[in-house]
Amino acid sequence: MSQLSNNAVLFNNIPESMPVKGKDLVFVQQSFDLNQILLNPGDFVLQTLYLSLDPFMRFRMRDPKVKSYVDAFELGKPVINLGIGRVIKSENSQYPIGVLLEGILPFQEYITVVSNNSNCIRSVVKEIPGIPLSAYLGLLGVSCWTAFIGLYDIGRIKSGETIFVSAASGAVGQLVVQLAKLEGLRVIASAGSAEKVEFLKNELGCDEAFNYKQEQPRVALKKYCPNGLDVFFDNVGGATLEAALSMANDHARFIECGMISQYNSSGLPGPRNLTLIVTKRIRMEGFIISDHKHKFKEYTNKMIQLVLDRRIVFKEHVSYGIENAIDGLIGMLKGDKLGKALVKLAD
Ligand SMILES: NC(=O)c1ccc[n+]([C@@H]2O[C@H](COP(=O)([O-])OP(=O)(O)OC[C@H]3O[C@@H](n4cnc5c(N)ncnc54)[C@H](OP(=O)(O)O)[C@@H]3O)[C@@H](O)[C@H]2O)c1
Repeated sequence: MSQLSNNAVLFNNIPESMPVKGKDLVFVQQSFDLNQILLNPGDFVLQTLYLSLDPFMRFRMRDPKVKSYVDAFELGKPVINLGIGRVIKSENSQYPIGVLLEGILPFQEYITVVSNNSNCIRSVVKEIPGIPLSAYLGLLGVSCWTAFIGLYDIGRIKSGETIFVSAASGAVGQLVVQLAKLEGLRVIASAGSAEKVEFLKNELGCDEAFNYKQEQPRVALKKYCPNGLDVFFDNVGGATLEAALSMANDHARFIECGMISQYNSSGLPGPRNLTLIVTKRIRMEGFIISDHKHKFKEYTNKMIQLVLDRRIVFKEHVSYGIENAIDGLIGMLKGDKLGKALVKLAD
């Protein structure tokens, strides 16, 4: 049978705050006939297996006139992000049928990649026994690089220091927490539910963890960091950043990874105590991993070893089917689920 469903998720409207399913992001049903697809030399057809759901996708749902480090999504076109697919039809000797590829893929079940537009493909994926294929989208990919680059290249962590990690049970946060523990730091973590706090304390070995929805960060940090903070790994910004500034020790380092509390809100007040950066001589540094590509291979190899040695665990939350991708994405932005958010489309 060559007639296949080729359903997709389109970027339909620029959200005012949290994206709305059916308005800002729409699911469309479509089909295609594999036999009817005519390939020229170099072309191939990819079946999408996994798609990654990341906070920065919200950042791409903006007016394209607003320039930034990553382009805005195109209105009326499928949302795009990192994914893994399998070649199912090919006129490309480099990518024969059966090969697994990673790249920036449209949220769609199948894509025809024409040779002169194949720069969406980043690499061939080689499966590693004992590690799931989905790991390339988090554990061995973006989440791994973000955790390593943030902690080591930006934060320059040292054994014995106290670190505070926000959004600590998420894709990046859970790796940051574990790497910091392995490095001998005292780790304080925040997350948005009792289940996440349990996971941070009992499975990841955080010294202290709190639910920021139940306990105000400035109150919790006073209680859990009586000697102040040396390092803050900031995934959240806003009130949590303000609290961390107030508890920072002199010469603390603030690793500014993300500010998800601000992504769906406009006009929220920022921290009111920025003067402390001066008086405490804090080094606050933002980073984007794509500036550090030369480190990716080294950090992936380190993570593979840590995982095979069973020194790192990694939780994923998988939504099944392209029809559930929008709920999965919004759920990740709201913090509904624990772990790295992904969509699985096919085996
Ligand atoms: N700089 C870079 O190159 C780079 C690369 C990758 C990711 N990032 C950033 O790293 C951060 C984490 O990304 P991730 O992929 O690991 O996502 P993630 O943590 O798996 O998912 C996002 C989490 O953010 C938390 N959150 C949502 N709204 C919040 C709010 N108002 N206040 C506090 N927490 C909130 C939710 O967890 P709770 O239940 O705990 O609220 C949610 O699960 C994001 O800020 C992202 O933009 C940066």
